[in-house]
Amino acid sequence: MRIAVVGCGYVGLVTGCCLAEAGHDVIAIDSDIARIKMLQAKRLPFYEPGLDVVMEKATRGERLRFTSDCAEAVRASDAIFICVGTPPLESGDSDLSAIDNVARQIATAARSPKLVIEKSTVPVQTGQQLRRALEVYGCAGVSFRVASNPEFLREGSAVADFFHPERIVVGVEDQQSEQQLRDIYRPIIEGSFNCPVHESKCPGGAPVLVVTTIESSELIKHASNSFLGLKISYANFISDICDRLGANVEEVTRAMGLDPRIGPQFLNAGLGFGGFCLPKDIQAFIRLAEKHGVGAGLLREAELINKDRIEQFVGKVRNALWVVKEKKIGVLGLAFKPNTDDIRFAPAIEVIRRLLAAGAHVCASDPAAIERARAVLPRVQFCSDPYEVTRDADALLVLTDWEEYRLLDWKRVYVQMARPLVLDARNMLSVQTMKAFGFEYHSLGRPDVAAEFALASA
Ligand code: UDX
Repeated sequence: MRIAVVGCGYVGLVTGCCLAEAGHDVIAIDSDIARIKMLQAKRLPFYEPGLDVVMEKATRGERLRFTSDCAEAVRASDAIFICVGTPPLESGDSDLSAIDNVARQIATAARSPKLVIEKSTVPVQTGQQLRRALEVYGCAGVSFRVASNPEFLREGSAVADFFHPERIVVGVEDQQSEQQLRDIYRPIIEGSFNCPVHESKCPGGAPVLVVTTIESSELIKHASNSFLGLKISYANFISDICDRLGANVEEVTRAMGLDPRIGPQFLNAGLGFGGFCLPKDIQAFIRLAEKHGVGAGLLREAELINKDRIEQFVGKVRNALWVVKEKKIGVLGLAFKPNTDDIRFAPAIEVIRRLLAAGAHVCASDPAAIERARAVLPRVQFCSDPYEVTRDADALLVLTDWEEYRLLDWKRVYVQMARPLVLDARNMLSVQTMKAFGFEYHSLGRPDVAAEFALASA
């Protein structure tokens, strides 16, 4: 099938590259000419494991090309995925101006029938507006069908998520659109496709294809992401109780997760959820509900709990350091989660801002996100070597749970620090291990470990 993907951001690029890998002819479009030039030169604008391999294969096989000419791409395609950004406005509503703009471009360019698919996360009823815009601006006699196909791609594992999803949701109004989407996803629906990056087949077998109305499909995305945020905030609420009353959140959530009705995932307490999806989706969903007279107190509370994580953790740093001013603080982790260079709404960035405001000297490391963080934190010293940030530090903060941090030579870290104090905002290190090394160790919702000065000289 000939497919156009409008928007070469995170979602569009993963979608375009992976659909080409699945055998379709894909044209990916972006209005940012510098970005298109970069992609034509086979360079990715962000870090996503495995995407470079998929892009290289697809462009070599001439199934994928990049252009800034939207009209040409629209005319050459049967189906068009809209993957442009829907960032939050001041009010918390989603900004849909990019979708509107693309709809008008598609409408004026098209000379034959098109299936237009919204993949960007949008509030319910956007599909209706999209159809209206296509009809109003379209040439006489050219028909459009609209569908919704939300993405559930996690940064850091988006390629595997694309090829091995648990579900593919398609919101359609007619049989032909459903059939076209089935054809687009056929290799994945049949479970016959091997992800070129993660070579084993989908462990769970073929995904479930969920066919719904457009409205339900749009709602599924907001409802899913808001629920994930709710689940994390619940774990963080339990964590606060544990902190006050002396239980261990890890033990509590582990046992909770063994109940299949609850499940173990997204119950990790810590610094809370960040990134460009969960926080903005929950915010937009609250706005949507309240605008239509449905109370969203449940989600508001989840959002508040999440924002308060920063305060909780900075409070722990203050307690441990007594005076923050002039202290040298080492930071491990800047990205909003591991395996990405994305720092948008990253809790780590917020924590660092508070510490800088309190007069600390911050030296930070991250396996992928230093360059992005440098642009927003000019007063921070960055080191690519994680051991460098521990040198002479009065405290070391673990703010993103990159696996390599678990595997650090913690004995070496202990020796290098001015004061062996570690504050782990992601509960990623073992309390027992840190105690054995002799660190003063604080995490969230788990027992603190006091300094073992006797071990310090060992
Ligand atoms: C999310 C959804 O998972 C994905 O389906 C959707 O399409 C896009 O939004 P992503 O933004 O990549 O994906 O991040 P995700 O893996 O969901 O993590 C979100 C945040 O929650 C991260 O900051 C992570 O550190 C935090 N988190 C996650 C927790 O604090 N605790 C957990 O138990 C799980």
